Amino acid sequence: MTETELAESTMTETELAESTRNTAALERPAASLVPTLAGHWYTDPAIFAAEQERIVEAGWVCVALAADLDAPGAYRTVQVGRESVVVVKGRDRAIRAFFNVCRHRGAQLCVEPAGQVRNKLQCPYHAWTYDLTGKLIAAPNLTEMPDVDRVVNGLAAVAVREWLGYVWVCVAPEPPSFEDEVIGAVVTRLGDVESIDHYGVENLRLARRISYDVRSNWKLIVENFMECYHCATIHPELTEVLPEFADGYAAQYYVGHGAEFGAAVEGFTVDGSAGHARIPTLDDAQDRKYFAITIRPGVFVNLVPDHVIVHRMTPVAADRTLVECDWLFLPEVVESGADVDRSVELFHRVNSQDFAACERTQPAMSSRVYANGGNLVPSEHHIAEFHHWVRARLSPPR
Ligand code: FES
Ligand code: FE
Repeated sequence: MTETELAESTMTETELAESTRNTAALERPAASLVPTLAGHWYTDPAIFAAEQERIVEAGWVCVALAADLDAPGAYRTVQVGRESVVVVKGRDRAIRAFFNVCRHRGAQLCVEPAGQVRNKLQCPYHAWTYDLTGKLIAAPNLTEMPDVDRVVNGLAAVAVREWLGYVWVCVAPEPPSFEDEVIGAVVTRLGDVESIDHYGVENLRLARRISYDVRSNWKLIVENFMECYHCATIHPELTEVLPEFADGYAAQYYVGHGAEFGAAVEGFTVDGSAGHARIPTLDDAQDRKYFAITIRPGVFVNLVPDHVIVHRMTPVAADRTLVECDWLFLPEVVESGADVDRSVELFHRVNSQDFAACERTQPAMSSRVYANGGNLVPSEHHIAEFHHWVRARLSPPR
């Protein structure tokens, strides 16, 4: 990747400001068609590596549902860019995260994606042993080495936050503000933080989790989620439930705007039939509406009156992204064993339709016809701001 390639801009700052000024862009677009990123942004391993370093490893990444770490000693091994991280619940019930790197000679402590230990993490190589706060508590012949500082030689900590019932980590030495980067993204979309507080997401329970292995670049998935120009073409069930989506304008386009359920629709289900008990703390203005939020780089939050759907993406290669999707309902709905199939089926179909579209797009990214990119129509102009965000993080090139 040359400096020019990284630094070049598909839109001038003025065009960008003009085309992303919320609804004004619809009325006075800079031009009907504005360019996308060039094809190599979706295929070039050097760009992918730069994104891992400058975006994924530099920001906050949502790595686990806090409830997945239910008991002291429960851990998850997760990938954050090029770093492996162990997230573990301590005996004090605090969740901590550490680089998955033994301080002796670097072996990975945990290789299973999830597990349960009693009260320590032991390296399988030479048995250096750490407590759940990361402190080095034992090693063969450690008494012969009284000068070894057990904290300095303990596991290297990773910054952790819990929000919306999820564990977020940042592997950067100086994490950016969680309030600005993560909570700020929600406030920008919904207008205030109280609007998401009403859903009490942290009190909801996991009813279903589906993992998707998507053969496309992570940015195609983000771009797809940001627009609804495709909804009428590929989402017949979703547009039945949310008729305004058939017009091609994503709910995310307008601050605070939720897409209204169709008049005959009873719930956010695959056939529009009734769903489950409404989250009681919701505002009336949030009833019978769908809200969608993108928290860059890899989280989508979907809010409907009786459940919340959270997508978490892990880019693993320029042309491959893993997506984990959780459906969260009120605890009483999950505990009662109520049938959530029709609710889950709606967004599972949407996911399958979206990811098939992304996979259909990925091969063309390396076509010479796409060497200079494609086009964004006015209802997609806000995607150019996402491109600007990616570009800004990769610039200046190192
Ligand atoms: Fe972990 Fe030696 S590398 S104990
Ligand atoms: Fe879609």
